Amino acid sequence: MLQDKITQYTQEINAFEPTSAQDVENFRLKFLVSKGIVKALFEEFKTVSPEEKRTLGKVLNDFKILAETKFKESSEAFVNQSDSSNVRKEGDLTLPGSGFTLGSRHPLSLVRKEIVEIFKKLGFIVAEGNEIEDDWHNFQALNFAPEHPARDMQDTFFIKKHDGNDVVLRTHTSSVQVRLMEAGQPPFRAIMPGRVYRNEAISARAHCFFHQIEGLYIDEDVSFADLKQTLYHFVKELYGEDTKVRFRPSYFPFTEPSAEMDISCTICKGAGCQMCKQSGWVEILGCGMVDPNVLENCGIDSKKYSGYAFGMGIERITNLKYEIRDLRLFSENDVRFLGQFETEII
Ligand code: PHE
Repeated sequence: MLQDKITQYTQEINAFEPTSAQDVENFRLKFLVSKGIVKALFEEFKTVSPEEKRTLGKVLNDFKILAETKFKESSEAFVNQSDSSNVRKEGDLTLPGSGFTLGSRHPLSLVRKEIVEIFKKLGFIVAEGNEIEDDWHNFQALNFAPEHPARDMQDTFFIKKHDGNDVVLRTHTSSVQVRLMEAGQPPFRAIMPGRVYRNEAISARAHCFFHQIEGLYIDEDVSFADLKQTLYHFVKELYGEDTKVRFRPSYFPFTEPSAEMDISCTICKGAGCQMCKQSGWVEILGCGMVDPNVLENCGIDSKKYSGYAFGMGIERITNLKYEIRDLRLFSENDVRFLGQFETEII
C-alpha cells in the first residue's frame, strides 16, 4: 500500500543522521534521482483509486518536500568540511608559500651610492641639474668660448630649436656646477651625479651616454692641497688603503691648474694587465682649481673665493670594481648580468 510505504520512508528520513558527505550522496541516490524512491512513489500514485488520490496527493507531496529539505540541509552541513573535493577547489592552505624572487640593484646604482656615501661623510650635499642644457651652462659659463677648440673634446648632441636657441644634451655634469653657483653664494660643497651624453659610436669602450659624478668645493682659501687630500681619502675608502694615487697635469677650460688622477690598477695591483693596458695605472678622474673666469661668470667674487672641482665616470669606477670589460652590458638589461650584483632588502 502506498500509504504504508510513505509512512515507512518518512520515518527513515526523519531518523537519517549523516556523518559524512558520502552518507548525503547515498541519500540522494536512494530518494531523489530519477530511479529513486520519490519518483517511484509518484509512479505508483498514478495507479491508485480516485478517492485515495484525494487524500494521498497531499501526503505524497509533503513526503517529497521532506526528502528534498533533508537532502539540502544535510549537504549544507558538509560543504565546508575539508573533504578531498573541497581541498582541490580552495587550494591547500597548509602548503608552504611559493616565495618570490628579489630584484638586485644595478651595478652603476650600487657604485654611485657608494661614492655618494663617502663624500656625504665629508659634508658634501647631493645636487642635480638638467640633462637637456643650454650652451651657456654646458659650455660658455665654463669658459668654453664659442669657437674654442676644447668643444671638440666632447662630441656633443645638439638639438635644433625653431626659435634659434639651440640646446644640447649635457656632455658633462659640470653644467650642474654652474647652476649651483648661480643660485647662491659660497661656501658650496656638493657632489653632482647624473647621466651625460656624447656622440660616439657604441662599442665595448664607448657609449653615447654614461654617468658622471662631479664634485665642487668653493670657499675662502681653498687650495690644491685640499683637493688632493679629499681625493686621497676617497680612493682609500673606495678601493682600499694600499691603492696608489698619482696626478698628471692636464687641461680643462674650466679649471686652472688642471690634473688627471690615476690609481694603481685594482685588478693586477700595478703589475700590468689588459684593464690597465699593461701600464699598472688607470685614470679615474679629471680635476683642478676652478678657473676664476668661471667663478665670475656665475656671480662669485674670484678675489675672495677659490675652489676645486673634480669629475669622474661611474662606469669606469664600476668596471674596475667588478672587472667589467664591455660598457654595453650596463644598458642591455640582461638579467643574467644584472642578477650577479648584491641584492639589497629595503
Ligand atoms: N667635466 C670633465 C669631463 O667631463 C671632468 C672634470 C670635472 C674635470 C671637473 C675637471 C673638473 O671630462
